Amino acid sequence: MPTDTVPDANCSNRTWYRTPVPIPKMFRERRSVRAFEAEKPPADVLARLVDALRWAPSAGHLESRHFYFVTDRTLRRKLARAAEQPFVGRAPVVVVACADLRIRREYGARGVQLYCLMDVAAAVQNLLLVAHREGLGACWVGALDEKEVRGLLGLPRHLRPVSLVPLGYPAEEPEAAERAAREDVATFLR
Ligand SMILES: Cc1cc2nc3c(=O)[nH]c(=O)nc-3n(C[C@H](O)[C@H](O)[C@H](O)COP(=O)(O)O)c2cc1C
Repeated sequence: MPTDTVPDANCSNRTWYRTPVPIPKMFRERRSVRAFEAEKPPADVLARLVDALRWAPSAGHLESRHFYFVTDRTLRRKLARAAEQPFVGRAPVVVVACADLRIRREYGARGVQLYCLMDVAAAVQNLLLVAHREGLGACWVGALDEKEVRGLLGLPRHLRPVSLVPLGYPAEEPEAAERAAREDVATFLR
């Protein structure tokens, strides 16, 4: 898979990344999508999703995270069972987001209990926004049996699977859920 963001002549024509979109519009339009077309996103799109993961901030710039892109149908179904959420297996791609516990060497317990999870979260949020920009639908799935996912992927001990992100071209357009009022979300201290 290419490691750079530079588009090439083989780019799929389902790309919008050259056209600027105001960030507020982008994050207001993004929705959790739980129904997908069967078509798998092409390699250049997947490469840009990986870039979205790469360029997220991370504690101490240690990038304490790793992501598996699963396309195998049987494995996707098994991941869906590990999450007890069948829609996960119907996405053509399921990303397994893992925290890298080796951060302990640098930051001890706070690194393991907090920083590496935030590293994953920052990357997943980037992923959701870029996926949306690419015309894909995705859903952050945090409810899963970690032990089962670990076994399915044969993960090394230092990787903790914390989220799944099923993604693909959307087969639904969910309504936006209400958001809390500004005054309930933030307090301005004077
Ligand atoms: C940490 C986290 C865990 C989540 N876990 C699940 C999940 O297990 N299953 C699911 O269907 N959605 C899950 N979601 C998606 C939320 O339900 C969704 O973001 C929320 O309802 C707001 O809808 P929106 O994303 O369309 O704005 C999760 C979201 C986050 C941030």
